[in-house]
Amino acid sequence: MHTSRPDREFHFTDDNFATIKKLIYERAGINLAETKRDMVYSRLSRRLRANNLRTFQQYLELLNDPDSHEQQEFVNSLTTNLTSFFRESHHFDILKEYFTEHKNKKSFRIWCCAASTGEEPYSIAMAAIEHFGTYNPPVEIFASDLDTKVLEKAQRGVYSFERVERLSDQRLKSFFFRGKGDNSGLVKVKSELQDLVYFFNLNLLSESWPFDQQFDIIFCRNVMIYFDKPTQYKVLKKFLPHLREDGLLFAGHSESFPHASDLFKLRKHTVYVKAHKMS
Ligand SMILES: C[S@@+](CC[C@H](N)C(=O)[O-])C[C@H]1O[C@@H](n2cnc3c(N)ncnc32)[C@H](O)[C@@H]1O
Repeated sequence: MHTSRPDREFHFTDDNFATIKKLIYERAGINLAETKRDMVYSRLSRRLRANNLRTFQQYLELLNDPDSHEQQEFVNSLTTNLTSFFRESHHFDILKEYFTEHKNKKSFRIWCCAASTGEEPYSIAMAAIEHFGTYNPPVEIFASDLDTKVLEKAQRGVYSFERVERLSDQRLKSFFFRGKGDNSGLVKVKSELQDLVYFFNLNLLSESWPFDQQFDIIFCRNVMIYFDKPTQYKVLKKFLPHLREDGLLFAGHSESFPHASDLFKLRKHTVYVKAHKMS
């Protein structure tokens, strides 16, 4: 069936939506509900304008062109990047507890696998600095995302003041510079924090991940909600060899994995541990 609303700037049919739904599922695992049709139209309309195109059909042809850079822009446009500093703050207390419980470890490797614009990995860095009482805590934080635009922002570490205004004065003073003059209304994370976090592009769906050592902690919060259960299971299974036996997997507040109980079991507050020791 081909339907397109006449009041719209661009011709957008049911078939176009079905093709987009299939493409983003194949490339990112994102399972778009039928109700996301208007969201897709509005986000991709910007890409049609940027490429001087008149219809979604033309846009889909561009996506098929192997020489086009549009594929990454397509993916970037359809990700949802909502995040905040110390989101689900109890998780950072559990992280500090983990540091205490494993105080004999020389260092901690932490992977934040859907880091978005950086608030989550920088919060991990702040929690580590607070716990160890030094700007040089024994942690390495690997922060990845599929979306290259958010990673650029994360790496810059510049945020509007509203993003940090709910943090304590102590955290603001310890971890951020406040912009002056042209930069007023902005804050920048201190370089000590940036030095603890290594940002890189990674698709959770890709066949192989570039890690040669295991992690103590994996933060995978508020990304699985965009995946269907078979995709969640596949990703969880891929986490197993990358997580130490005593490691923790942090999930988002609305994420649970009863369908993967052979892989991970709940410890508390959407924090998971391996279901079985691998020996
Ligand atoms: C809603 S944000 C969550 C950010 C952060 N983890 C938090 O909880 O605040 C979801 C992030 O997952 C990323 N994402 C979506 N699909 C992905 C995939 N296949 N591989 C890696 N990251 C993905 C998006 O780009 C987005 O930045």
